[in-house]
Amino acid sequence: MKALRVTGLRCEYLENPLGLDERVPRLSWRLEANRRGVRQAAWRVWVASSPAKLAAGVGDRWDSGRVTGDRTLHLPYGGAQLASRQRCHWLVQVWDETGATARSLPAHWTMGLLERADWRARWIAADPAVGRDDPASSRGTRTEPGSPVWLRKEFVAPRGIVRATLYASARGLFELQLGGRRVGEDLLAPEWTDYRQRIHYRTYDVTAQIAPGRNVLGAVLGDGWWSGFIGWQETRGRYGLENSLAVQLEIETARGRALVVATDGSWRCRTGPILSSDFMMGETYDARRERAGWDRPGFGQKGWRRARVLAPPRVRLVAQRSEPVRITETLAPKSVAEIGPGVYICDLGQNITGWIRLRVKGKSGTRVVLRHGERLSPDGTLYTENLRRAKATDVYILKGGGREVWEPRFTFHGFQYVEVTGLPAAPAPGDITACVVHSATPPAGAFACSHPGVNRLWLNGRWSQRDNFLSVPTDCPQRDERLGWTGDAEVFMRTAAYNMNVAAFFTKWMIDVEDAQTADGVFPDTAPRLREGGDYVGLDGLGGGAGWADAGVIVPWTLWRVYGDERVIERHWPAMRRWLDYLERTNPDGVRSRELGNNYGDWLCVPADTAFRTQSPMKTLLATAYWADDAAKMAQMAAALGRKSEAARYQALFERIRAAFQRVFLKRDGRLSVQAQTAYLLALAMNLLPEKVRGRAAAHLVSDIRAHNWHLSTGFVGIRHLNPVLTDYGHPEVAYRLLLREDYPSWLYPVRHGATTIWERWNGWTEKDGFFNPHMNSFNHYALGSIGEWLYRHVAGIELAEPGFKRALLRPHPGGGLTFARAHYETLHGRISSAWIRSGPRFTWKISIPPNTTAEVWVPSAAGTAVTESGVPIESSAGRREPGFLVCEVGSGKYVFRSAWRGASAR
Ligand code: BGC
Repeated sequence: MKALRVTGLRCEYLENPLGLDERVPRLSWRLEANRRGVRQAAWRVWVASSPAKLAAGVGDRWDSGRVTGDRTLHLPYGGAQLASRQRCHWLVQVWDETGATARSLPAHWTMGLLERADWRARWIAADPAVGRDDPASSRGTRTEPGSPVWLRKEFVAPRGIVRATLYASARGLFELQLGGRRVGEDLLAPEWTDYRQRIHYRTYDVTAQIAPGRNVLGAVLGDGWWSGFIGWQETRGRYGLENSLAVQLEIETARGRALVVATDGSWRCRTGPILSSDFMMGETYDARRERAGWDRPGFGQKGWRRARVLAPPRVRLVAQRSEPVRITETLAPKSVAEIGPGVYICDLGQNITGWIRLRVKGKSGTRVVLRHGERLSPDGTLYTENLRRAKATDVYILKGGGREVWEPRFTFHGFQYVEVTGLPAAPAPGDITACVVHSATPPAGAFACSHPGVNRLWLNGRWSQRDNFLSVPTDCPQRDERLGWTGDAEVFMRTAAYNMNVAAFFTKWMIDVEDAQTADGVFPDTAPRLREGGDYVGLDGLGGGAGWADAGVIVPWTLWRVYGDERVIERHWPAMRRWLDYLERTNPDGVRSRELGNNYGDWLCVPADTAFRTQSPMKTLLATAYWADDAAKMAQMAAALGRKSEAARYQALFERIRAAFQRVFLKRDGRLSVQAQTAYLLALAMNLLPEKVRGRAAAHLVSDIRAHNWHLSTGFVGIRHLNPVLTDYGHPEVAYRLLLREDYPSWLYPVRHGATTIWERWNGWTEKDGFFNPHMNSFNHYALGSIGEWLYRHVAGIELAEPGFKRALLRPHPGGGLTFARAHYETLHGRISSAWIRSGPRFTWKISIPPNTTAEVWVPSAAGTAVTESGVPIESSAGRREPGFLVCEVGSGKYVFRSAWRGASAR
């Protein structure tokens, strides 16, 4: 490897994105080097209008010149103003502190359609007569999904095509077809937003899919979030009932734009083989109704009617800025059992979100039915009660005559088991394939240790993340709910950010959160907010739930901390301020006890308390703590943005709420007036106690845990802080003790019961605590999986010190009898890794720190014992002693520390 390399070029977090509508996109890169202490001393960026110019070293859009500095993240494009459709080819050269230099390979981005006037496409929908033409089809009602419609347009492409670009949007979901092939790999596009405020469009480079002469541009249009069932109420069409499409294909020859093919009244439409399709209900496909050749030129137009042109939506069309939904993996069933004649139960061995790809051969008209569920009943049949009204059933009707391969287009299911009936023969290997579907956020981290149960727990959290990060962070993927619950997302976000790069994903979702803010400043409990007929629906109330609505501050703050993104906090600043103003207006005495919306409290704590809207001292405590924490985060963000007076104002607000908190909830001896683990956890995690009582408060927390016979009793909110607070306040062994418990309630209890994802409730499947309610019992809810953060941060010890991990804090807390733990995490600067092994008192720890960053490293070691790095003793002058650790500063590179460690009690 060359001594210095520059790689990982990203524009607005994405690799070579097409169709951005960010007018000043930001550029990032990373260094790679094989020596220690590498720093970037200077950089230069070229942005050119063509690859040839870039290769010739001409930055005709922007040439930054050589700039001294170590910045590698979110560098705002500094060239001439960018216009619609422009192509930008770029590369970066860097110099390190020794003067060595390296150039990156070229990367690119393109601009989307920035002005409304750029859109030539009209919004088209099916002629209502297509439904009447076709008795098998359904137009869809408030309670019945409709049949997706097929649309096509034949056109003649010119010779000498140099580029063809397709822009597409819909109210509903589109799948596009060009040159007889599917366009792109995105699924379920355009994704979920509050369609009354903004609708996404996608940009595709389709140059390779088009040939001179006659071509067909086709589309299939389904329901999705726009018109299908979402949430748990029994009606469809939250945003509208009629699906519509806007597509614009722009073909360029050497002479410029030669042809634009756009949706208009000349497009033809017809129903097709999908009889119905809906996220919750599933899809029914009759292959006998396929119209082979519909996407090829020369196909007869008989039976195809003209599309209807609608008024364009009066909302913003915006480029999608996050990774699209994709199939990221396929799985073969672990087992297939015939539980009755012709009734097969396939067990994937993993609870997933997605669907089955079916391969089948049989007589025309044979009907194969696939039902999906997360569990089996004791008698071995599929258990579906917890899906509530989601039918989760796909039906495939064979055309006959050979091997047929099918998978649904506009639905998805949360399932581990699929029941298949109607197969002509027992399924052979390869006949049933599960497709794992979610937003394709890039993997970022992994964790492993010597305890298999803990490894499974970590993996379960990661699976629940994959299964639920589908366009928006949902609570669950299986029942009739699947909403962007803000509380669930907020508590899990740090864990999520360790597992995957969720920067673009949450940047997009935070826009949904802000879109859902009320005029009074109230952030929602779910985002995008559901609406009906232009009004907010009562489903989630107007929001404001403590720990839920506060996501409006926590999400931008976390994006700033983890990814060093200041733009996101600047953009949402006015919205965050409105929220803080609202809280202050409604709770003038510094105690947040009013306007708490649905007031979920420490949702699903033990024993489960699911009464909403009621008030209790615990709920007031929780709400007040969150408010104080919002204020503290606002003060930090204001300081980062250089808003000095606001920083002071929010700091003062934090102190005022903290004083009120102490006045109302704190007793002299460090006890709180509310006896609950979560009360102590919030008070400690959110810095609400005077320094002198913190140790005592932590001791009260431990005695509460002891009083529960060393069990946790926290719900969605408290659990996130449980092990971090215990560890930070000197009780790591208690944290490990809770981690390793296998009896109820504990993290490993579901693992012991075969969980492959995180359960919604601590008791889940079992009748512990006298509770068993199938109607609120998901097996795939990530909220209680927020322990992942602690595994990375405290067990492996990879912690953030400065925004964007420009500086890291590496501080592992061995314990719990683990003999090893290791993790890696891809920061935007590169990979941090940490791996420790323990054998008796001998502690060996290998770490690596990415170039252009530094770390404060805490080596676990007993007082008075020696520590070496790569065999060389660390002089006491090079490090400082903290109880149980030797602390030193390092630059980038790989290090091996050896020390003597005698257990947490050494602290
Ligand atoms: C959802 C949650 C959500 C909660 C609000 C439930 O129905 O599944 O995960 O946070 O309601 O308390």
